[in-house]
Amino acid sequence: MDSSERNGSYRDENREAARAAAAGTPFACLDLDALEHNAGQVLRLSGQKPVRLATKSLRCVQAVKHLLTLHPRFQGVMCYHPQEAAALLEAGVSDVLMGYPTLDRPALARLAGLRRQGKEIVLMADDGSQLRAAEQAAREQQICFDICLDIDMSSAFGGLHFGVRRSPLRSEASVLELADAIRRSPHLRLAGVMGYEAQLAGVPDAKPGQKLMSAAIRYVKRRSEAEVAARRAAIVRALRCEGHELRFVNGGGSGSLRFTASDESVTELTAGSAFYAPALFDGYADLTLRPAAVFALPVVRVAAPGIYTCFGGGYIASGEAGADRLPQPIWPPGGHLLPREGAGEVQTPVRYPDGADPLRPGDLIWFRHAKAGELAERFREFVAVKQGACIGTWATYRGEGWCFG
Ligand SMILES: Cc1ncc(COP(=O)(O)O)c(C=O)c1O
Repeated sequence: MDSSERNGSYRDENREAARAAAAGTPFACLDLDALEHNAGQVLRLSGQKPVRLATKSLRCVQAVKHLLTLHPRFQGVMCYHPQEAAALLEAGVSDVLMGYPTLDRPALARLAGLRRQGKEIVLMADDGSQLRAAEQAAREQQICFDICLDIDMSSAFGGLHFGVRRSPLRSEASVLELADAIRRSPHLRLAGVMGYEAQLAGVPDAKPGQKLMSAAIRYVKRRSEAEVAARRAAIVRALRCEGHELRFVNGGGSGSLRFTASDESVTELTAGSAFYAPALFDGYADLTLRPAAVFALPVVRVAAPGIYTCFGGGYIASGEAGADRLPQPIWPPGGHLLPREGAGEVQTPVRYPDGADPLRPGDLIWFRHAKAGELAERFREFVAVKQGACIGTWATYRGEGWCFG
């Protein structure tokens, strides 16, 4: 699928339905036809393994619930903040795994209370300090917290670090030490391990216009895959040999589904971004996604012939700063941000080539965010559309009044 097809796949009738239903401009839209197409891609790539939803990449309760009902292999969620986990459990979402460690005592106390009511929550840890905080909260409410150990899956080639800086747990010995600490506590229980291979799941390997660089990245990824699979398997084996029972081994992300599904030591995958298909996820050889989460800005002035200035738009994505973190105008096709202005705090000019159909104030220009869930922090709701009709407005976390930092 080339980029014009990809952008064109954002269907006219869904755009019209969203425009008619939106309370005002700018607005964000979730195209459920595209979302469901993307969900099909995730299922196809993940073999027969269950897929946990990464909520940081969705940030909309109804979108999470919609995906969970789409297929029985979509099972459970991975949260990024313990207060978020508590809010989702209270909203009726079950089977929650924290994807990141926490030392937030009020949040741990709230989760301990929910655990007391029988809610399923697993905390993430890679250090004794996090275990001690969890244990204290559990002891105070006389419950037992399930714990998942986060193992480092990064690679090093010739002194170059390929991966992200997360967990310090790399060796079997370091993992066993924490697993033993968990076993000694009456308030903690080891439930699983997670090894997130960010360098495979989160680094594009087929970037449009970057053939050589992409080929080099695919080569390094192949080398890293062998190392990741061996380390994850060795750690899982070592834990089992020492009598630690693991309910699950979690791995992967949107960009690594095929590889992670093929890793026999992994029992479940995680995916989030693939469902919304933000611009950065165009650059993966395995994925042919359709933009599902998009936003529309109104043209408020015509600054010069072919340059249309829209209201809003400065929604820059996190990560290593660069042009690929900017939103992308996708419709009408042919529009580009101005290199010296980018996407502005209040206004965003978009240039169209000579000969393009002229736009007028009041027209809309549609964009994609570079990343998935961050768009939901800028809008209170998604106008949800399907087959040319609006099927409702779905509150984002921001619309729920939720803000987890
Ligand atoms: C622990 C963990 N698992 C999985 C993912 C993959 O999420 P996504 O599919 O949205 O890229 C992430 C993303 O950062 C993560 O931190």
